[in-house]
Amino acid sequence: MKNVKIILGVSAGIASYKTLDLVRLLVKEGAEVRVVMSANAAQFVTPLTFEAISGFPVYCSIFDAQNSMEHIRVAENADLFVVAPATASILAKMANGLADDALSCTHLAFKGPVLVAPAMNDGMWNHTAVKQNISTLKSRGVEFIDPESGDLACGAIGQGRLADITVILDKIKNYFIQRDDLKGIRFLITAGPTHEAIDPVRYLSNPSSGKMGYALAEQVKTRGGKVTLISGPTNLKPPLGVNFKACKKAEEMNLLVQENLEQCDVLVMAAAVGDFAAENLEKEKIKKQGDKGLVLKLVATKDILLEVAKRNLGKVVVGFAAETQNLVESALDKLKKKNLDLIVANDISSPGIGFQSDSNKVTIIDREESIENLPLKSKREISDLLLDRILALVKST
Ligand code: CTP
Repeated sequence: MKNVKIILGVSAGIASYKTLDLVRLLVKEGAEVRVVMSANAAQFVTPLTFEAISGFPVYCSIFDAQNSMEHIRVAENADLFVVAPATASILAKMANGLADDALSCTHLAFKGPVLVAPAMNDGMWNHTAVKQNISTLKSRGVEFIDPESGDLACGAIGQGRLADITVILDKIKNYFIQRDDLKGIRFLITAGPTHEAIDPVRYLSNPSSGKMGYALAEQVKTRGGKVTLISGPTNLKPPLGVNFKACKKAEEMNLLVQENLEQCDVLVMAAAVGDFAAENLEKEKIKKQGDKGLVLKLVATKDILLEVAKRNLGKVVVGFAAETQNLVESALDKLKKKNLDLIVANDISSPGIGFQSDSNKVTIIDREESIENLPLKSKREISDLLLDRILALVKST
Protein backbone atom coordinates (compact mmCIF):
# COMPACT_ATOMS: atom_id res chain seq x y z
CA MET A 1 0.00 0.00 0.00
CA LYS A 2 2.83 2.39 -0.87
CA ASN A 3 1.64 5.96 -1.67
CA VAL A 4 -1.78 5.15 -0.25
CA LYS A 5 -3.30 7.77 2.05
CA ILE A 6 -5.91 6.76 4.59
CA ILE A 7 -7.86 8.76 7.15
CA LEU A 8 -8.66 6.65 10.19
CA GLY A 9 -11.56 8.13 12.13
CA VAL A 10 -11.71 6.94 15.73
CA SER A 11 -14.87 7.52 17.73
CA ALA A 12 -15.45 7.06 21.46
CA GLY A 13 -15.82 3.30 21.78
CA ILE A 14 -13.99 0.94 24.09
CA ALA A 15 -12.81 -0.91 20.95
CA SER A 16 -10.70 2.11 19.97
CA TYR A 17 -7.69 0.48 21.66
CA LYS A 18 -7.89 -2.27 19.01
CA THR A 19 -7.48 0.24 16.18
CA LEU A 20 -3.99 1.04 17.45
CA ASP A 21 -3.09 -2.32 15.98
CA LEU A 22 -4.89 -1.46 12.73
CA VAL A 23 -2.77 1.70 12.42
CA ARG A 24 0.39 -0.32 13.13
CA LEU A 25 -0.46 -2.91 10.44
CA LEU A 26 -1.43 -0.28 7.84
CA VAL A 27 1.82 1.63 8.43
CA LYS A 28 3.72 -1.67 8.12
CA GLU A 29 2.06 -2.19 4.72
CA GLY A 30 3.39 1.22 3.61
CA ALA A 31 0.21 3.32 3.99
CA GLU A 32 0.20 6.88 5.28
CA VAL A 33 -2.40 6.99 8.06
CA ARG A 34 -3.83 10.24 9.41
CA VAL A 35 -5.82 9.67 12.59
CA VAL A 36 -8.80 11.92 13.29
CA MET A 37 -10.59 11.55 16.62
CA SER A 38 -14.11 12.45 17.73
CA ALA A 39 -14.62 14.86 20.64
CA ASN A 40 -14.78 12.04 23.20
CA ALA A 41 -12.48 9.40 21.67
CA ALA A 42 -9.51 10.64 23.72
CA GLN A 43 -11.33 9.41 26.85
CA PHE A 44 -10.29 5.90 25.72
CA VAL A 45 -6.92 6.23 23.94
CA THR A 46 -4.77 9.36 23.98
CA PRO A 47 -3.99 11.17 20.72
CA LEU A 48 -0.31 10.85 21.66
CA THR A 49 -0.50 7.05 21.38
CA PHE A 50 -1.99 7.26 17.86
CA GLU A 51 0.57 9.92 16.98
CA ALA A 52 3.44 7.69 18.04
CA ILE A 53 2.16 4.73 16.00
CA SER A 54 1.07 6.61 12.86
CA GLY A 55 4.03 8.99 12.82
CA PHE A 56 1.74 11.98 12.13
CA PRO A 57 -0.01 14.56 14.31
CA VAL A 58 -3.50 13.48 15.31
CA TYR A 59 -6.38 15.82 14.53
CA CYS A 60 -8.79 15.92 17.45
CA SER A 61 -10.00 19.45 18.07
CA ILE A 62 -11.69 21.96 15.80
CA PHE A 63 -11.02 24.73 18.32
CA ASP A 64 -7.29 24.77 17.85
CA ALA A 65 -6.43 28.16 16.25
CA GLN A 66 -3.48 26.72 14.30
CA ASN A 67 -5.49 23.81 12.96
CA SER A 68 -8.87 25.40 12.27
CA MET A 69 -8.93 24.25 8.62
CA GLU A 70 -7.28 20.90 9.28
CA HIS A 71 -10.41 18.88 8.40
CA ILE A 72 -10.31 20.36 4.88
CA ARG A 73 -6.58 19.68 4.45
CA VAL A 74 -6.83 16.11 5.76
CA ALA A 75 -9.92 15.39 3.63
CA GLU A 76 -8.40 16.73 0.42
CA ASN A 77 -5.34 14.54 0.67
CA ALA A 78 -6.74 11.09 1.28
CA ASP A 79 -7.82 8.13 -0.86
CA LEU A 80 -10.02 6.38 1.69
CA PHE A 81 -11.80 7.29 4.92
CA VAL A 82 -12.13 4.47 7.46
CA VAL A 83 -14.13 4.91 10.67
CA ALA A 84 -13.24 2.28 13.28
CA PRO A 85 -14.71 1.91 15.77
CA ALA A 86 -17.87 3.74 14.72
CA THR A 87 -20.24 4.40 17.61
CA ALA A 88 -24.02 4.88 17.27
CA SER A 89 -23.39 8.58 17.78
CA ILE A 90 -20.94 9.07 14.90
CA LEU A 91 -23.22 7.00 12.61
CA ALA A 92 -26.08 9.39 13.45
CA LYS A 93 -23.88 12.43 12.80
CA MET A 94 -22.66 11.03 9.49
CA ALA A 95 -26.17 10.09 8.35
CA ASN A 96 -27.56 13.53 9.20
CA GLY A 97 -24.64 15.69 8.11
CA LEU A 98 -23.70 17.01 11.56
CA ALA A 99 -20.31 18.65 11.89
CA ASP A 100 -19.46 19.51 15.49
CA ASP A 101 -16.10 17.86 16.06
CA ALA A 102 -12.92 16.95 14.18
CA LEU A 103 -14.23 13.58 12.99
CA SER A 104 -17.68 14.67 11.80
CA CYS A 105 -16.22 17.78 10.09
CA THR A 106 -13.62 15.70 8.25
CA HIS A 107 -16.34 13.26 7.16
CA LEU A 108 -18.35 16.06 5.55
CA ALA A 109 -15.30 17.57 3.89
CA PHE A 110 -14.18 14.21 2.40
CA LYS A 111 -15.41 13.42 -1.11
CA GLY A 112 -14.06 9.88 -1.58
CA PRO A 113 -15.07 6.38 -0.49
CA VAL A 114 -15.95 5.69 3.14
CA LEU A 115 -15.63 2.41 5.01
CA VAL A 116 -17.21 2.00 8.45
CA ALA A 117 -16.65 -0.64 11.13
CA PRO A 118 -19.26 -0.12 13.89
CA ALA A 119 -18.92 -1.32 17.48
CA MET A 120 -21.52 -0.92 20.22
CA ASN A 121 -23.82 -2.74 22.63
CA ASP A 122 -26.11 -5.28 20.87
CA GLY A 123 -29.27 -3.44 21.91
CA MET A 124 -27.95 -0.23 20.39
CA TRP A 125 -26.87 -2.09 17.25
CA ASN A 126 -30.40 -3.45 16.81
CA HIS A 127 -32.17 -0.13 17.50
CA THR A 128 -34.31 1.11 14.61
CA ALA A 129 -32.64 4.54 14.73
CA VAL A 130 -29.20 2.97 14.23
CA LYS A 131 -30.54 0.70 11.46
CA GLN A 132 -32.07 3.68 9.68
CA ASN A 133 -28.85 5.68 9.90
CA ILE A 134 -26.93 2.72 8.48
CA SER A 135 -29.38 2.34 5.64
CA THR A 136 -29.12 6.09 4.84
CA LEU A 137 -25.34 5.83 4.75
CA LYS A 138 -25.46 2.66 2.62
CA SER A 139 -27.73 4.38 0.11
CA ARG A 140 -24.96 7.02 -0.26
CA GLY A 141 -22.44 4.31 -1.02
CA VAL A 142 -20.79 4.03 2.41
CA GLU A 143 -19.51 0.49 2.94
CA PHE A 144 -19.88 -1.38 6.23
CA ILE A 145 -17.91 -4.09 7.97
CA ASP A 146 -20.52 -5.46 10.34
CA PRO A 147 -19.63 -6.08 13.99
CA GLU A 148 -19.13 -9.63 15.20
CA SER A 149 -21.11 -11.55 17.80
CA GLY A 150 -19.53 -12.43 21.13
CA ASP A 151 -18.76 -11.00 24.59
CA LEU A 152 -19.37 -7.27 24.70
CA ALA A 153 -17.67 -4.72 26.98
CA CYS A 154 -20.97 -4.18 28.83
CA GLY A 155 -21.03 -7.84 29.89
CA ALA A 156 -23.75 -8.88 27.42
CA ILE A 157 -23.31 -11.46 24.69
CA GLY A 158 -24.54 -10.42 21.25
CA GLN A 159 -23.65 -8.68 18.02
CA GLY A 160 -21.67 -5.49 18.52
CA ARG A 161 -17.96 -6.37 18.81
CA LEU A 162 -15.72 -4.50 16.39
CA ALA A 163 -14.89 -6.83 13.47
CA ASP A 164 -11.51 -8.51 13.78
CA ILE A 165 -8.70 -6.13 12.86
CA THR A 166 -7.44 -8.58 10.19
CA VAL A 167 -10.90 -8.51 8.56
CA ILE A 168 -10.83 -4.69 8.49
CA LEU A 169 -7.26 -4.72 7.18
CA ASP A 170 -8.20 -7.18 4.37
CA LYS A 171 -11.16 -5.05 3.36
CA ILE A 172 -8.93 -1.97 3.14
CA LYS A 173 -6.25 -3.86 1.18
CA ASN A 174 -8.90 -5.22 -1.19
CA TYR A 175 -10.11 -1.74 -1.86
CA PHE A 176 -6.66 -0.74 -3.09
CA ILE A 177 -6.08 -3.96 -5.03
CA GLN A 178 -9.34 -3.33 -6.86
CA ARG A 179 -8.37 0.28 -7.38
CA ASP A 180 -6.20 -0.28 -10.42
CA ASP A 181 -7.75 -3.41 -11.85
CA LEU A 182 -9.32 -1.58 -14.81
CA LYS A 183 -6.03 0.04 -15.88
CA GLY A 184 -5.71 0.02 -19.67
CA ILE A 185 -9.41 -0.61 -20.29
CA ARG A 186 -11.28 2.11 -22.20
CA PHE A 187 -14.95 2.59 -21.35
CA LEU A 188 -17.60 4.42 -23.33
CA ILE A 189 -20.53 5.14 -20.99
CA THR A 190 -23.82 6.87 -21.75
CA ALA A 191 -25.97 8.43 -19.05
CA GLY A 192 -29.07 10.47 -18.40
CA PRO A 193 -32.19 11.11 -20.43
CA THR A 194 -32.47 12.58 -23.92
CA HIS A 195 -34.54 15.63 -24.82
CA GLU A 196 -36.51 15.54 -28.06
CA ALA A 197 -37.68 19.05 -28.83
CA ILE A 198 -41.25 19.65 -30.04
CA ASP A 199 -40.94 23.43 -30.37
CA PRO A 200 -38.44 26.00 -29.00
CA VAL A 201 -39.75 25.66 -25.42
CA ARG A 202 -41.06 22.09 -25.11
CA TYR A 203 -39.52 18.66 -25.28
CA LEU A 204 -40.23 14.97 -24.70
CA SER A 205 -38.09 13.29 -22.05
CA ASN A 206 -38.10 10.89 -19.09
CA PRO A 207 -37.17 11.12 -15.38
CA SER A 208 -33.67 9.61 -15.69
CA SER A 209 -31.27 11.48 -13.36
CA GLY A 210 -28.07 10.09 -14.89
CA LYS A 211 -26.91 8.87 -11.44
CA MET A 212 -26.27 5.28 -12.60
CA GLY A 213 -24.09 6.22 -15.58
CA TYR A 214 -22.18 8.85 -13.58
CA ALA A 215 -21.61 6.38 -10.71
CA LEU A 216 -20.25 3.89 -13.23
CA ALA A 217 -17.94 6.51 -14.75
CA GLU A 218 -16.71 7.48 -11.28
CA GLN A 219 -15.97 3.87 -10.32
CA VAL A 220 -14.15 3.17 -13.59
CA LYS A 221 -11.92 6.17 -12.84
CA THR A 222 -11.39 5.06 -9.24
CA ARG A 223 -10.37 1.62 -10.50
CA GLY A 224 -7.86 3.03 -12.98
CA GLY A 225 -9.83 2.74 -16.26
CA LYS A 226 -10.35 5.41 -18.92
CA VAL A 227 -13.81 6.86 -19.50
CA THR A 228 -15.59 8.77 -22.19
CA LEU A 229 -18.93 9.80 -20.71
CA ILE A 230 -21.68 10.80 -23.15
CA SER A 231 -24.48 12.40 -21.23
CA GLY A 232 -27.91 13.76 -21.90
CA PRO A 233 -29.04 16.77 -19.81
CA THR A 234 -28.63 16.14 -16.03
CA ASN A 235 -27.94 18.17 -12.89
CA LEU A 236 -24.77 16.21 -12.14
CA LYS A 237 -21.15 17.31 -12.27
CA PRO A 238 -19.04 15.09 -14.53
CA PRO A 239 -16.55 13.07 -12.45
CA LEU A 240 -12.99 14.43 -12.53
CA GLY A 241 -10.77 13.02 -15.23
CA VAL A 242 -13.44 11.70 -17.59
CA ASN A 243 -13.64 12.73 -21.23
CA PHE A 244 -17.08 14.35 -21.09
CA LYS A 245 -19.40 14.87 -24.06
CA ALA A 246 -22.79 16.46 -23.63
CA CYS A 247 -25.75 15.93 -25.94
CA LYS A 248 -29.49 16.44 -25.97
CA LYS A 249 -31.23 14.41 -28.67
CA ALA A 250 -31.10 10.64 -29.17
CA GLU A 251 -29.71 11.32 -32.65
CA GLU A 252 -26.79 13.33 -31.18
CA MET A 253 -26.13 10.61 -28.61
CA ASN A 254 -26.11 8.02 -31.38
CA LEU A 255 -23.58 10.02 -33.42
CA LEU A 256 -21.29 10.45 -30.40
CA VAL A 257 -21.48 6.74 -29.55
CA GLN A 258 -20.72 5.67 -33.12
CA GLU A 259 -17.82 8.19 -33.37
CA ASN A 260 -16.20 7.01 -30.14
CA LEU A 261 -16.94 3.29 -30.38
CA GLU A 262 -13.76 2.19 -32.14
CA GLN A 263 -11.51 3.79 -29.49
CA CYS A 264 -13.14 1.89 -26.64
CA ASP A 265 -13.09 -1.67 -25.32
CA VAL A 266 -16.39 -1.60 -23.46
CA LEU A 267 -19.67 0.20 -24.17
CA VAL A 268 -22.16 0.62 -21.31
CA MET A 269 -25.48 2.14 -22.40
CA ALA A 270 -26.90 3.37 -19.11
CA ALA A 271 -28.73 6.27 -20.78
CA ALA A 272 -32.51 6.28 -20.96
CA VAL A 273 -32.64 7.09 -24.66
CA GLY A 274 -35.94 8.46 -25.95
CA ASP A 275 -37.64 6.10 -28.39
CA PHE A 276 -39.72 8.77 -30.10
CA ALA A 277 -39.10 12.23 -31.51
CA ALA A 278 -41.54 14.73 -33.05
CA GLU A 279 -41.75 14.22 -36.81
CA ASN A 280 -41.60 18.00 -37.31
CA LEU A 281 -39.80 20.40 -35.01
CA GLU A 282 -41.93 23.56 -34.92
CA LYS A 283 -39.81 26.70 -35.37
CA GLU A 284 -42.14 28.83 -33.24
CA LYS A 285 -43.84 28.00 -29.95
CA ILE A 286 -47.03 26.01 -30.60
CA LYS A 287 -49.96 28.17 -29.52
CA LYS A 288 -52.88 26.86 -27.50
CA GLN A 289 -56.06 26.57 -29.54
CA GLY A 290 -58.65 27.27 -26.84
CA ASP A 291 -59.60 24.00 -25.17
CA LYS A 292 -58.62 21.91 -28.19
CA GLY A 293 -55.89 19.39 -27.56
CA LEU A 294 -52.87 18.79 -29.74
CA VAL A 295 -52.12 15.80 -31.93
CA LEU A 296 -48.40 15.25 -32.33
CA LYS A 297 -46.94 12.84 -34.86
CA LEU A 298 -43.94 11.03 -33.42
CA VAL A 299 -41.36 9.01 -35.30
CA ALA A 300 -39.03 6.35 -33.89
CA THR A 301 -35.47 7.38 -33.01
CA LYS A 302 -32.57 5.13 -33.99
CA ASP A 303 -31.87 2.33 -31.53
CA ILE A 304 -28.23 3.05 -30.65
CA LEU A 305 -27.49 -0.48 -29.45
CA LEU A 306 -28.93 -1.99 -32.63
CA GLU A 307 -26.69 0.32 -34.67
CA VAL A 308 -23.71 -0.82 -32.57
CA ALA A 309 -24.67 -4.48 -33.10
CA LYS A 310 -24.78 -3.95 -36.90
CA ARG A 311 -21.15 -2.75 -36.89
CA ASN A 312 -20.02 -5.96 -35.19
CA LEU A 313 -16.78 -4.47 -33.82
CA GLY A 314 -16.31 -7.14 -31.15
CA LYS A 315 -16.59 -4.79 -28.17
CA VAL A 316 -17.98 -5.83 -24.81
CA VAL A 317 -21.46 -4.30 -24.85
CA VAL A 318 -23.67 -3.81 -21.81
CA GLY A 319 -27.24 -2.53 -21.90
CA PHE A 320 -29.77 -1.54 -19.27
CA ALA A 321 -33.44 -2.44 -19.34
CA ALA A 322 -36.07 -0.29 -17.68
CA GLU A 323 -39.19 -2.40 -17.28
CA THR A 324 -42.60 -2.07 -15.67
CA GLN A 325 -43.59 -5.72 -16.18
CA ASN A 326 -42.11 -9.15 -17.05
CA LEU A 327 -38.66 -7.94 -15.95
CA VAL A 328 -36.55 -10.98 -16.81
CA GLU A 329 -38.36 -12.01 -20.04
CA SER A 330 -38.28 -8.46 -21.46
CA ALA A 331 -34.63 -7.91 -20.49
CA LEU A 332 -33.60 -11.26 -21.97
CA ASP A 333 -35.41 -10.40 -25.16
CA LYS A 334 -33.47 -7.09 -25.39
CA LEU A 335 -30.17 -8.85 -24.63
CA LYS A 336 -30.71 -11.18 -27.61
CA LYS A 337 -32.17 -8.61 -30.00
CA LYS A 338 -29.38 -6.09 -29.33
CA ASN A 339 -26.62 -8.74 -29.15
CA LEU A 340 -25.46 -7.71 -25.67
CA ASP A 341 -22.94 -9.40 -23.39
CA LEU A 342 -24.80 -8.31 -20.26
CA ILE A 343 -28.04 -6.58 -19.47
CA VAL A 344 -28.91 -4.87 -16.20
CA ALA A 345 -32.66 -4.94 -15.65
CA ASN A 346 -34.55 -2.82 -13.20
CA ASP A 347 -38.20 -2.57 -12.36
CA ILE A 348 -39.00 1.12 -12.71
CA SER A 349 -42.52 0.64 -11.33
CA SER A 350 -41.21 -0.01 -7.78
CA PRO A 351 -41.26 3.20 -5.71
CA GLY A 352 -38.00 4.50 -4.20
CA ILE A 353 -35.67 2.68 -6.60
CA GLY A 354 -34.43 3.30 -10.11
CA PHE A 355 -34.47 6.55 -12.05
CA GLN A 356 -34.03 9.37 -9.48
CA SER A 357 -32.80 7.35 -6.53
CA ASP A 358 -29.25 6.85 -5.15
CA SER A 359 -29.91 3.14 -4.87
CA ASN A 360 -31.43 0.48 -7.05
CA LYS A 361 -32.45 -3.17 -7.11
CA VAL A 362 -31.25 -4.78 -10.30
CA THR A 363 -31.00 -8.14 -12.02
CA ILE A 364 -27.93 -8.87 -14.14
CA ILE A 365 -28.37 -11.34 -17.01
CA ASP A 366 -25.62 -12.66 -19.29
CA ARG A 367 -25.52 -14.38 -22.68
CA GLU A 368 -25.72 -17.81 -21.02
CA GLU A 369 -29.00 -16.57 -19.53
CA SER A 370 -27.68 -16.85 -16.01
CA ILE A 371 -29.67 -14.53 -13.81
CA GLU A 372 -28.26 -12.71 -10.77
CA ASN A 373 -30.80 -10.90 -8.59
CA LEU A 374 -29.00 -8.30 -6.48
CA PRO A 375 -30.56 -6.91 -3.30
CA LEU A 376 -31.11 -3.15 -2.90
CA LYS A 377 -27.69 -1.49 -3.23
CA SER A 378 -26.25 1.95 -3.80
CA LYS A 379 -25.55 2.79 -7.43
CA ARG A 380 -21.84 2.83 -6.54
CA GLU A 381 -21.99 -0.73 -5.21
CA ILE A 382 -23.96 -1.85 -8.29
CA SER A 383 -21.31 -0.18 -10.46
CA ASP A 384 -18.54 -2.10 -8.73
CA LEU A 385 -20.31 -5.45 -9.08
CA LEU A 386 -21.08 -4.75 -12.72
CA LEU A 387 -17.48 -3.70 -13.37
CA ASP A 388 -16.26 -6.97 -11.81
CA ARG A 389 -18.45 -8.85 -14.32
CA ILE A 390 -17.27 -6.67 -17.22
CA LEU A 391 -13.62 -7.16 -16.22
CA ALA A 392 -14.08 -10.95 -16.32
CA LEU A 393 -15.57 -10.64 -19.83
CA VAL A 394 -12.76 -8.38 -21.06
CA LYS A 395 -10.18 -10.86 -19.73
CA SER A 396 -11.91 -13.78 -21.46
CA THR A 397 -12.05 -12.09 -24.90
N1 CTP B 1 -31.39 2.13 -26.11
C1 CTP B 1 -30.69 2.53 -27.24
N2 CTP B 1 -31.32 3.29 -28.18
C2 CTP B 1 -32.62 3.64 -28.03
C3 CTP B 1 -33.35 3.21 -26.90
C4 CTP B 1 -32.69 2.46 -25.94
O1 CTP B 1 -29.52 2.19 -27.37
N3 CTP B 1 -33.18 4.41 -28.96
C5 CTP B 1 -30.67 1.32 -25.11
C6 CTP B 1 -30.75 1.85 -23.68
O2 CTP B 1 -29.68 2.72 -23.41
C7 CTP B 1 -30.66 0.58 -22.86
C8 CTP B 1 -31.32 -0.48 -23.74
O3 CTP B 1 -31.30 0.06 -25.07
O4 CTP B 1 -29.34 0.19 -22.63
C9 CTP B 1 -32.73 -0.80 -23.38
O5 CTP B 1 -33.48 0.40 -23.27
P1 CTP B 1 -35.02 0.37 -22.83
O6 CTP B 1 -35.51 1.78 -22.82
O7 CTP B 1 -35.19 -0.48 -21.61
O8 CTP B 1 -35.69 -0.47 -23.99
P2 CTP B 1 -36.06 -0.15 -25.48
O9 CTP B 1 -35.11 -0.89 -26.36
O10 CTP B 1 -36.17 1.33 -25.71
O11 CTP B 1 -37.49 -0.86 -25.58
P3 CTP B 1 -38.86 -0.51 -24.80
O12 CTP B 1 -38.82 0.99 -24.53
O13 CTP B 1 -39.89 -0.88 -25.78
O14 CTP B 1 -38.87 -1.34 -23.54
